[in-house]
Amino acid sequence: MFGLTPAEIHAHFSTRSGAEQIATRFAIERLEECLFRYCPARICEVGAGLGTLSWVVSEYLAYGLGEAVAVEDDPWCRSQWQANLAFFKKRPALFEKLPVYEFYDLVILDGPQMPPDGWACLAPRAVVFVEGNRRAQRARLRQYLRNVGRRFCETPSRPPDRSKGVWIVQCDPTARERVASRARRIMEGVRDWPARIQGRPIGKRLAILLLVLFLSSGCAAAGIIAGTISATSDVVGIVKWHQDRTFQAEANEALRQQTEAIRALETELTATRQTLHEDLRAVHDDLQRVLKPGP
Ligand SMILES: C[S@@+](CC[C@H](N)C(=O)[O-])C[C@H]1O[C@@H](n2cnc3c(N)ncnc32)[C@H](O)[C@@H]1O
Repeated sequence: MFGLTPAEIHAHFSTRSGAEQIATRFAIERLEECLFRYCPARICEVGAGLGTLSWVVSEYLAYGLGEAVAVEDDPWCRSQWQANLAFFKKRPALFEKLPVYEFYDLVILDGPQMPPDGWACLAPRAVVFVEGNRRAQRARLRQYLRNVGRRFCETPSRPPDRSKGVWIVQCDPTARERVASRARRIMEGVRDWPARIQGRPIGKRLAILLLVLFLSSGCAAAGIIAGTISATSDVVGIVKWHQDRTFQAEANEALRQQTEAIRALETELTATRQTLHEDLRAVHDDLQRVLKPGP
């Protein structure tokens, strides 16, 4: 997009003394994209260091597209920065401390020089470009945005080898931007898996979370198995109890029917005895009458 390619900018700064902490080539590429996408009018770079990311910003300024400040408190870094960017007619104004009275559309965060009240400098719909992870600083930024009731979405972007990438924090996002950010986060999470399977450590917190999830899913599985066994034995017990009850009821019914049959037989027997008794009496009376001597 600009004069030098990201690879050339990175190579250029890699040869400078004290280049151990310069931004990655991936971060340079993403920052170029970010400038192209958001076209910020006011830019602030926190942690200017040797000037790798300031070079990208200076190329953007060369097109007359905005204004920029850079913050660096280390005197040696500041002198290196001046020397490294001497090539540019228009470059960020270098400060020792963040000019907090200004508002910025884009804040590039690559150093610890952001004061606690510094995030008030974010203009409406500002974007924060974070080089690397900078977890503690991002946590403070999130806390600040929540405290002042501003919505935001945080989107990671990591290179294919899943090494250190960048985070883009969009303030006051539209619904569409929120959905896109969420989708991107899911996609980045999915892309981490091949590297994770190969044993490469990807994000300490995520690894801990996954370990906890793994262990808790193990506990949950054990709980489910124990619950299933106990529920099964309960069901077996209930079925057995039901069978016992059915058998008991059938036996009671049979007993009741037999008792009724015996009672009916007894009644019939009594009636038969009664009849026999009456018949015998009648026969006895007839015999008496026949055998009675005549007058
Ligand atoms: C990650 S560095 C910033 C690098 C810078 N954005 C770049 O890409 O050139 C963050 C901070 O580390 C400090 N620092 C200390 N030693 C440094 C060094 N040798 N090179 C760059 N930064 C250094 C600076 O104060 C700087 O703000």
